[in-house]
Amino acid sequence: MMIDWAEWLNLAIRWFHLTAGIAWIGSSFYFVWLDNHLVPPKVGEASGEVWSVHGGGFYHKQKYQVAPSQMPQDLHWFKWEAYTTWITGFLLLVLVYWIGAASFLIDPAKAALTPLQASGLGAAALVAGWLVYDGLCRSPLGRDDRALGATWYAVLVAAAWGLCQVFSARGAYLHVGAIIGTAMVGNVFFVIIPNQRKVVAALVQGGVPDPALGKAAKARSLHNNYMTLPVLLIMISHHYPMTFGAARPWLVLALLGLTGVAVRHVFNLRHRGQPLGRAITVAVVLALVSVTYVSAEKVGVSAEKVGVSPEKAGTTRSAGGSADWASVEPIFARHCVSCHAAKPTSDLVTAPPLGVMLDSRAHARMFAARVKRVAVDAEIMPLGNTTGMTRAEREALGRWIEAGAP
Ligand code: HEC
Repeated sequence: MMIDWAEWLNLAIRWFHLTAGIAWIGSSFYFVWLDNHLVPPKVGEASGEVWSVHGGGFYHKQKYQVAPSQMPQDLHWFKWEAYTTWITGFLLLVLVYWIGAASFLIDPAKAALTPLQASGLGAAALVAGWLVYDGLCRSPLGRDDRALGATWYAVLVAAAWGLCQVFSARGAYLHVGAIIGTAMVGNVFFVIIPNQRKVVAALVQGGVPDPALGKAAKARSLHNNYMTLPVLLIMISHHYPMTFGAARPWLVLALLGLTGVAVRHVFNLRHRGQPLGRAITVAVVLALVSVTYVSAEKVGVSAEKVGVSPEKAGTTRSAGGSADWASVEPIFARHCVSCHAAKPTSDLVTAPPLGVMLDSRAHARMFAARVKRVAVDAEIMPLGNTTGMTRAEREALGRWIEAGAP
């Protein structure tokens, strides 16, 4: 019995990451909701209050801007949700995209990087992303939310474009997501929490906290609010090869990311009871432009689809003892290549599913371990086994992979 520890570790970290992310985004959405619904209180020194009902009881929340005159005894902080989301996300990035760089990050057709070079570049992108974003926030631009937002968006689109030139599109997407996620957690770690600590310290010493501290924390928290939907989109995008599999993946990301920002804006306006018409129109138009662009591009691709001729595909050898490329190439051609090629001929997919290509020896080698998982050990590929792949053919693939995919 062989235990696939890497795969179990992957599952455990991903599960943790998802759970922490829900806790973080959930509480962050909740506090934004609170802020958007505050009304001036009837009595007391609070600056705003909101009543709500949930779980069989009533909640009466009050906000003190900048701080109450007296420190409460019990003060709850919200930070570990953000930190654990980043830590688990980073571990997952290392496990899947850096350790697994050869399968997921490097695209030899774009740049012949070694796994170490590719991971180094990825790490540098995360650090550079934070430095640029934080620099923008602290620059005069930081005083104008819209100008700052537009500039940061342009930087991210440029990053997406640049990373798509050197990484597999899927790897580039994930790194853009990691840059945004790092900026969001950086906001919590470097600005929001330290500023709140300073406010608390001032209060404890009986002083008056500097209102600028709260204001800066609030601004960063607003940025996080608008970055949330794009980052979530990126994290699920690898299930949708039509996104990163497009001819200009960075453009699809730019359009869909902006759609996410627009949708978030609709909700913020709605919470504050402001008119929604224009914001909804913008969000819908952006969504339609994204879909239209991806579909229009697909028409261009299918015009030049490359297929495998039936004669060639029909020569599949039955199971022999050989484990060389010549004995498995026809098996890939007959059962896999219609979907797993740069330009699939199958109508079921628009781009190689999950970025897995099996249309050449180099590609098949690259994905050998995963092929074993889905087509030899398990029989989930080809999808629905519409091509009638036999057990003998699976075993032939298994022999080739076991022999080191020569
Ligand atoms: C009809 C289209 C189609 C055919 C034919 C097909 N696949 Fe797939 N394959 C898919 C889709 C769709 C996915 C993505 C599934 C998902 O989202 O998890 C996929 C995923 C994969 C993966 C990635 C799984 C992972 O997450 O590690 C591998 C490896 C793979 N296929 C191998 C093969 C092999 C080998 C064959 C031929 C024996 C084959 N596929 C035939 C559509 C196809």
